[in-house]
Amino acid sequence: MIGPPSSLRATMEVIGVFKDRPILLGVTGSIAAYKAADLASKLTQAGARVTVVMTEAATRFVTPLTFQAVTGQPVYTDLWTLEHHIPHVGLAQNAALLAIAPATANMIAKLAHGLADDLLSVTALAARCPILVAPAMDAGMYEHPATTANLRALAERGVHIAGPACGRMASGLVGPGRMLEPTELAGHIRYLLSRGGPLSGRRVVVTAGGTREPLDPVRFLTNRSSGRQGFALAQAALDRGADVTLITAPVALETPWGAERIEVQTAEEMCQAVLAAAETADVLLMAAAVADYRPAETAAHKIKKDASASLTLTLTRTPDILAAVAERRDRTGLPAVVVGFAAETDDLLRYAHEKLLTKHLDLIAANDVSIPDSGFEVTTNRVTLLDTQGGVERLDLLSKTEVAERILERVRGLLAEAAQPPVATANTRPDQGKQT
Ligand code: C5P
Repeated sequence: MIGPPSSLRATMEVIGVFKDRPILLGVTGSIAAYKAADLASKLTQAGARVTVVMTEAATRFVTPLTFQAVTGQPVYTDLWTLEHHIPHVGLAQNAALLAIAPATANMIAKLAHGLADDLLSVTALAARCPILVAPAMDAGMYEHPATTANLRALAERGVHIAGPACGRMASGLVGPGRMLEPTELAGHIRYLLSRGGPLSGRRVVVTAGGTREPLDPVRFLTNRSSGRQGFALAQAALDRGADVTLITAPVALETPWGAERIEVQTAEEMCQAVLAAAETADVLLMAAAVADYRPAETAAHKIKKDASASLTLTLTRTPDILAAVAERRDRTGLPAVVVGFAAETDDLLRYAHEKLLTKHLDLIAANDVSIPDSGFEVTTNRVTLLDTQGGVERLDLLSKTEVAERILERVRGLLAEAAQPPVATANTRPDQGKQT
């Protein structure tokens, strides 16, 4: 059987955090309402059950039918019809999240003051789930002290204010007031839905990318790391509710929403950043491709070519970050779980096993970077996970997102083990050593 052409396949994959989660999307009367249709579509494609509640003004910009078509769910608009009068309570009570996007100055004022005179404001007042508000307004309304005070009041009450962005608005004016783009809003919503997950209260530090070791002001030594695996790990940790610090060498990737991003260039800078972050971290995922050597000297000026046929560079060792972490960990016990990565072109498992032991790791993800669909610069990875109990788990060829999911599941297990009291061995009974 011939499948659909690739252009017709689903554009977005179902994402665990969204899967079957009931999301209420409130849409109010702003020109940005047309973008809310895209947001509703993205959330639906990610697996959420999206129910849209529109104000009367919103229906003047976009029809309820548009939202019904992209979500496959009925759209609610009116408080005063019998079949809608009771659902608002049920809608509010069953929702995992209420996102109001776009939120006009008027709706923000109503929410701030607890007014409830239409279906959406009534629903918001009845809701006990997290609420996200994405302001969208024009012509300085956002900067008016009334709006500022209302938004502050909502934020103090725990409402998540997403945006607005600065830029061109429908009136042609430029300034703050544009609703965030749907992909950005989906990122905020993903973060809010993940809170309270199995890793909530845990701090996870992830490193990503290839370090840059400068030769002169315009040149550096680096490697082919794209940072994708590290960023996928950061997202997988966020999705499980963790607080995430992402220490990254320069890469062209968006920070997953909610992660603290620390940019570094060299192995030395990464080492300092990791040691500082690791002091309070439960987990360290060392996915960065750290240079092992750097130029012994960095020229102050651009190195010029001369008549000689060759140029010899002297390289010197960079700090071994994991060794420095292991040394501290012996004293502090933190991070409780450390995962390393081994990218090799030959004798993969032997080298990986050696690193597992010498770098005092709990788990190592070994990937053969000599095969074309695995490792650097591609979106897939073929990884084998080795642990300290001699366990060898060979994963199939997976997307880096799926590899990250598998690694985070192993991390959960390792954290649970680390929390167990040491098991009494056969010759150390609990009563041993007691004075009788
Ligand atoms: O480069 P190598 O294959 O030894 O990397 C193995 C692991 O050690 C990786 O997790 C990498 O991030 C880490 N590493 C490190 N400090 C270095 C080099 C690598 O922590 N200087």
